[in-house]
Amino acid sequence: MTKGAMLYEGKAKQVFETDNPNEVIVRFKDDATAFNAQKRGSVDLKGEMNNAITTLIFEYLNTKGIATHFIKKLDEREQLVKKVNIIPLEMVVRNYSAGSMAQRLGVEEGIKSPVTIFDLCYKRDDLGDPLINDHHAVFLGAATYDELDEMYELSSDINDILIDLFDQMNIILIDFKIELGKDSNGKIILADEISPDTCRLWDKDTMKKLDKDRFRRDLGEVTEAYVEIYERLKKVLHK
Ligand code: TMP
Repeated sequence: MTKGAMLYEGKAKQVFETDNPNEVIVRFKDDATAFNAQKRGSVDLKGEMNNAITTLIFEYLNTKGIATHFIKKLDEREQLVKKVNIIPLEMVVRNYSAGSMAQRLGVEEGIKSPVTIFDLCYKRDDLGDPLINDHHAVFLGAATYDELDEMYELSSDINDILIDLFDQMNIILIDFKIELGKDSNGKIILADEISPDTCRLWDKDTMKKLDKDRFRRDLGEVTEAYVEIYERLKKVLHK
């Protein structure tokens, strides 16, 4: 397997072609952005940590029957994944109030929700990834109603598995964002990453934030938080 040309560069990752048309290499960068890239920076070790954390989580989800794009970790920063057509929707799953939802609704952060909350965002950097609803997604041709049903079910299953996994790490899964894609057979599978960049993770005892909010809000100890998540994950997964 050889690494070919770069196909795409995002804010936190690069994607390279390989000699297999159905597989690509994802490279995790240390670059960090927030607020639609108005805030930019770099977090030491972030690329390595997110590659390692995503690897462990996607492997774990695979063992629980969730289909993902993940094939194998190649080195510190790179992993081999199935090439998918990314559905241009971000699925946000929330178990507690936080972030943009807390702001939008004028409530404090950290209120446990009696129901699982799903937010759909349209992946369009130039628009700031706006919050949309199912009808907008169908209007845009991003997904059909049946596909949306499937996406909500998959997201809910992933949420159940991750709540339990993070609970074993003494962490509350406040919320997270996932991206889904269609593989070469048109099957909807989990893609992108699951890491402290894409989740809100609070220590159960101290409520300390162990995720990208430390970067977004200038809370300090950013690298330490990512390393802490990796260490706890390795421990519960016996890796
Ligand atoms: P939000 O409260 O800012 O909408 O974020 C909800 C969750 O989605 C949170 O866990 C952080 C994650 N997220 C991303 O992964 N990428 C993004 O661009 C944004 C805005 C949030």
